Amino acid sequence: MGDEGTRGVGVIGAGAMAQALLKGLLAGGGLPPQRIAVANRGDRVRLGQAAELGVHTTVDKGDVCRRSDVIVLAVKPRDALEVCHQLREHLRPDHLVVSVAAGLGSGVLRRELGDHRRVVRAMPNTGSLISASATAVAYEGDPGDVRRAARLLASLGPIELVPEAQLDAVTALSGSGPAYVYLLIEAMIAAGVAEGLPEDVARALTLQTALGAARMACESGLRPDELSRQIASPGGTTVAALQVLEQREIRLAVHDAVHSARERAREIAETFAREIS
Ligand SMILES: NC(=O)c1ccc[n+]([C@@H]2O[C@H](COP(=O)([O-])OP(=O)(O)OC[C@H]3O[C@@H](n4cnc5c(N)ncnc54)[C@H](OP(=O)(O)O)[C@@H]3O)[C@@H](O)[C@H]2O)c1
Repeated sequence: MGDEGTRGVGVIGAGAMAQALLKGLLAGGGLPPQRIAVANRGDRVRLGQAAELGVHTTVDKGDVCRRSDVIVLAVKPRDALEVCHQLREHLRPDHLVVSVAAGLGSGVLRRELGDHRRVVRAMPNTGSLISASATAVAYEGDPGDVRRAARLLASLGPIELVPEAQLDAVTALSGSGPAYVYLLIEAMIAAGVAEGLPEDVARALTLQTALGAARMACESGLRPDELSRQIASPGGTTVAALQVLEQREIRLAVHDAVHSARERAREIAETFAREIS
């Protein structure tokens, strides 16, 4: 994590996101496993998986709070309020609470944590599992707390700082985004097979194509449209394919898909806010 100021990190939740976070924190190398504590509600299998990483595991939130000065909330939004209430009696004023729960605003979290001031929200994605998350951190709040949360989450992958109001858009773009890319990969493999390639060959070529294209977009310093022009010579095969994708309005479909996800994120947040008010 590279954050010498942090004595210990406590993670509430031992599910998919927590496991990804733990792997990222440990791979980041800045914090030894003995300085990480994980609590869940009682699922021994998941707690056992966390224990295999060498971290301290417990179901006692007081224990987690005593061992840490940063607490990460990695539970489902529907469980987050119960967790906030359970944490209240154990939180010290110096605890920084970092929430990765979708749709639960920092104002609600602060209030439900007993007017706890130090809360930062963030949205990583499943790339966390291989330290390749696209993560957004909301920048409101104490600048020192935001920096500290960003340093912690940087062990999962690159960080973008955004206003909290944009976290629904982030959820729609990069939170759900891996699934959009998987859909394109799946469609390309099927198309390769339809054109006569063996499935394993179509899969290997498609996956390497996706990896190479993403790396070129990241590393070449060129925009995606410039990279596309480099391989789309007039009258050639790439142009023939791109024309079909444009005619079928792929840009509009992607635009509408992301918009739909963002609307859904907003609806979930509103339903949630109504339920707890
Ligand atoms: N998965 C993703 O790609 C992703 C990406 C970005 C953000 N997130 C966010 O990460 C959060 C967690 O998602 P997930 O996929 O990791 O969920 P998950 O796999 O269902 O895990 C949830 C964890 O929360 C624990 N928990 C529930 N209530 C608890 C309580 N009262 N006290 C202590 N632990 C409690 C559960 O413990 P038990 O198993 O013992 O019940 C479980 O370990 C969500 O808010 C989600 O929005 C997820």
